[in-house]
Amino acid sequence: MSDSWKVTPVSAALGAVVEGLSLSASLAGAEVERLRDLLAQHHVLVLPDQELNEDTHVELGSLFGTPYLHPFLTAHPDQPAVLEVLKNETDEATFGGEYWHADITFTSPPAAVSLLHGLEIPPLGGDTLFANQFLAFERLSPRLQELLETLDAHHTYPGMTEEDPRAHALHPVVRRHPRSGRRALFVNPAFVSRFDGMTAEESRPLLEFLFEHQVRPEFQGRVSWRPNQLTIWDNRAVQHYAMNDYPGQRRRLQRVTVLESGVF
Ligand code: SIN
Repeated sequence: MSDSWKVTPVSAALGAVVEGLSLSASLAGAEVERLRDLLAQHHVLVLPDQELNEDTHVELGSLFGTPYLHPFLTAHPDQPAVLEVLKNETDEATFGGEYWHADITFTSPPAAVSLLHGLEIPPLGGDTLFANQFLAFERLSPRLQELLETLDAHHTYPGMTEEDPRAHALHPVVRRHPRSGRRALFVNPAFVSRFDGMTAEESRPLLEFLFEHQVRPEFQGRVSWRPNQLTIWDNRAVQHYAMNDYPGQRRRLQRVTVLESGVF
């Protein structure tokens, strides 16, 4: 029963550890709603000790949206909605690169939720940082908030063109969360190159300000990993950054990302 769940906040800005539930068994309807409510409240949920296979992982994702099949990355051989997030001992680069981003914002609709399952975790390092984009919007001056609400931004997968419908979408710079109605900043340095109706050069000064502002330390929370930990985050509410501070060690996780579909 969801009454036995223990919910412990991670930081002032975001995140909660949720204990006392097993995701390998199917959740009752009330438990699914409780999980969605907790995600809407905390934006990042950390669920320790979850042994999942790939199919269960995708089923859990489906509680939050439509599983996304990445057109540009190689998926798990048996489950096309599962991506491996792997850094081998000899690799230098991490899967997502060393920059802040939200997952899959270059589609319409954009990603709702990502579910990342830890498998092989270095004893120290490899944390994931998150930054709350509601706070980032709310801490701007009212006049700048008003201006941003009039703008749309072009989101493009790196190396692709705005003409490729698999790789490009236009989204409002300020997005209302479909569940709470709360307004969040919705630009990120991985995928956004310009505002609609402006060149990249014209857009750059304001974008650079927003990219720096939106990840200020007071908007952040930090998640450490353990094997079999599932971390669920809302890409409309937070950005994330994977630390690359464990040279010579292997880190392997699996990710399912679902697109916004009206269920969450
Ligand atoms: C990602 O960018 O989705 C992966 C995050 C991580 O490796 O912690």
